[in-house]
Amino acid sequence: MLLRILISAYQCQSVALGRRGDLRRSVMRTPVHLTNRTNLVSFLQVIYMMKQIYLDNSATTAVAPEVMEAMAPFFSAEYGNASSLHGFGLRTRHAMEKSREEIADTLQASPAEIVFTSGATEANNLAIQGAARARPNRRHLIISKIEHHSVLHTCQWMETQGYEVTYLDVDRSGAIDLDELRGAIRDETLLVSIMAGNNEIGTLAPISEIGAICREKGVLFHTDAVQAYGKIPLPIETVDLLSVSAHKLSGPKGVGLLFVRKKTPLLSIVHGGEHEQGRRSGTENVPGIIGMAAAARLSFGEMEETAARLRGYRKQLIAEIAAIPGTQLNGHETESLHHIANFSFQGIEGESMVMKLDEHGIAVSTGSACSSPNLEPSHVLVALRIPLAMAHGSLRISTGRQTTAEEIDTLLKFLPRVVEELRVISPFKVGE
Ligand SMILES: Cc1ncc(COP(=O)(O)O)c(C=O)c1O
Repeated sequence: MLLRILISAYQCQSVALGRRGDLRRSVMRTPVHLTNRTNLVSFLQVIYMMKQIYLDNSATTAVAPEVMEAMAPFFSAEYGNASSLHGFGLRTRHAMEKSREEIADTLQASPAEIVFTSGATEANNLAIQGAARARPNRRHLIISKIEHHSVLHTCQWMETQGYEVTYLDVDRSGAIDLDELRGAIRDETLLVSIMAGNNEIGTLAPISEIGAICREKGVLFHTDAVQAYGKIPLPIETVDLLSVSAHKLSGPKGVGLLFVRKKTPLLSIVHGGEHEQGRRSGTENVPGIIGMAAAARLSFGEMEETAARLRGYRKQLIAEIAAIPGTQLNGHETESLHHIANFSFQGIEGESMVMKLDEHGIAVSTGSACSSPNLEPSHVLVALRIPLAMAHGSLRISTGRQTTAEEIDTLLKFLPRVVEELRVISPFKVGE
């Protein structure tokens, strides 16, 4: 019995991760004791997960086996504090600095320009508040209306501190108007923050052009590149500050970074030790940083192949879902991240669709993970001027490196049925 559970759990996990070979290697190296209750429970969870199709990769991703493998020693044998002067500390510092170099390389940056943080929420806060502290005379900020809450809410808080914020409109596809941006920049503007790729609808921003305008006008340019980093090449010659989060690219949760271009004025927003060259106090999350570098290696190494495959899935999703009556794509058809596709369905609630699909073992979401439990329509869809009823009926499908063509086919098999079932019980009729 025990053996049967072991074998099926192993097979299930291999298939679930789509990486038979990698998993076989890591399973062979990891002794598993099913007498241990925790291991048994997690194997059973894996069996349950096997039945699931995970299409919510914008919310978070599975940590890749090779990332776990790279991190493992830094939880056990190599647990030194990277600030300590003894061998334990020196070894972890060396590994951490190697990771910093590797990550800097992916951005064509120098290691000194990388500040490790607890994730992108902190990186976005540091970019905006840290720049404001360094240049207290500049009290105007510019962002778009579709920024992530970690930018939007930081700017709303800055307003309570006497700052003025311009919230740029976006068009129906989620793009800002570059002339409007140019016109909004004033002498007292501190910083412009526009995300590289939107987490709900996928729309890409022309970050080179935006950065060039900011350079010309002498203001800082920050971009939240959480959904774009490791997925597409990022031209960042004109970017001053850039945020990344490891858990969106098969890395661990709770670690990220802020790229800070040399000479960019920035002061720490957390008081404590002199970590990260005095720009971010707090003992560094060494296993997390090692994991983020491993995840970056993986993502950059397979970028082209994964992008081509996921672009194909997105095309198929758009073609087949948009053919369902009373359905529309939210965002841009082509100027988009390849792993995100967002649709609205007339006459039904997004939450009902998420729950129904979950009954079939398919995990998708209605919007960003943070706003999903909230029944307010997404601020992104509102900014796109999508009618409220349609905004409420939205669904975000986000694929990942482990997504297979069969999983897309399964979703496309169940989705029209789910839409039909929910429309039968909906008080609103399509076309009304
Ligand atoms: C675009 C974007 N920015 C910022 C964040 C926040 O990242 P973290 O979870 O690392 O705080 C997210 C996560 O959902 C995101 O999608």
